Amino acid sequence: MFSRILGTGGYLPSQVRTNADLEQMVETSDTWIVERTGIHERRIASKEETVAFMGIEAAKKALEAASLNASDIDAVICATTSSQNAFPSAACEIALGLGIGNVIAFDVAAACAGFSYAYSVAHNMIMCGQAKKVLIVGSDTLSHACDPTDRTTIILFGDGAGACILGASEEPGTLAVKLSSDPSCGELLRLPVPKRPNCASPDDGSPYLYMKGTDVFVHAVTVLAKLVHETIELAGIKPEELNFLVPHQANMRIIAATARKLKLDMSQVIVTIDKHGNTSAASVPLALDEGIRQGRIKRGDNVLLESFGGGLVWGSALIRY
Ligand code: COA
Repeated sequence: MFSRILGTGGYLPSQVRTNADLEQMVETSDTWIVERTGIHERRIASKEETVAFMGIEAAKKALEAASLNASDIDAVICATTSSQNAFPSAACEIALGLGIGNVIAFDVAAACAGFSYAYSVAHNMIMCGQAKKVLIVGSDTLSHACDPTDRTTIILFGDGAGACILGASEEPGTLAVKLSSDPSCGELLRLPVPKRPNCASPDDGSPYLYMKGTDVFVHAVTVLAKLVHETIELAGIKPEELNFLVPHQANMRIIAATARKLKLDMSQVIVTIDKHGNTSAASVPLALDEGIRQGRIKRGDNVLLESFGGGLVWGSALIRY
């Protein structure tokens, strides 16, 4: 018995924020942003485009790709750190929007690595027989969590949602999953929950996302280099048998460094950062969906998914698509 991806989908808001738009908001330039990050534009969610709304739209496309009805799903997991409510969870709202009742539904909070964590939970639910078809959604609106006057963060984040349906299968399948964290590095990347009256609150500082960019960069490059090799080893395949890398889209230089460690040609790497920016938990499922819909990733390909985010947390899945 294996778990296997049955279908994928994605949703991006229609509002585009280009580097030229950012030049009007903060002291920056298109050249600086492109050279340091690889980002040209990102999408910005409207008020109506909540985490749940975008998740529902991405899920509909994944269901269509898998030729399944919503009623076939027996668990919904949403990876997010920017949903509107602590409860009902975004997963419950997505289930409601899809018209599914009596379903396992919960959110997973692992920042930009959320999709890897959700994928691992879904895989294990299938392997132990708790569910047969799991809808995994990564959806975030972190552009709205950034201080619009802070040029070090506002340039990086965009909004969107990606979805995939993982199902029980006799064919492989998920070959390996790996998760880890370094909680001692929590201060490098922090997003406070909104302050409420009469509630204990961790600090009186800015409500916006805070990031020590250079430190996060160094940790990401180091951790991911180790993670990808360990995942390949765990999956029992040779590095040269890997067909595609679907990395978290945080910085083009981090993506290129990971590809170099794997001796992969950039044509074997799915890159969306130029158009999406960093969409947090949505970044990997959106890139995976794009790679599949473009016909680049084909059935039978060995594909390595990896992500890294605030916590610090990181995770991977090596799949035979
Ligand atoms: N436009 C122009 N200049 C900028 C700028 C911007 N948007 N943001 C920062 N700068 C300036 C800095 O103030 C600094 O100026 P100084 O040398 O006069 O002090 C200079 O550019 C270099 O800044 P630095 O932060 O060292 O740049 P960097 O090469 O580390 O790139 C990041 C910054 C944020 C792009 C990079 O560190 C990064 O991508 N980090 C990882 C972020 C990440 O992955 N986060 C999410 C993890 S899920």
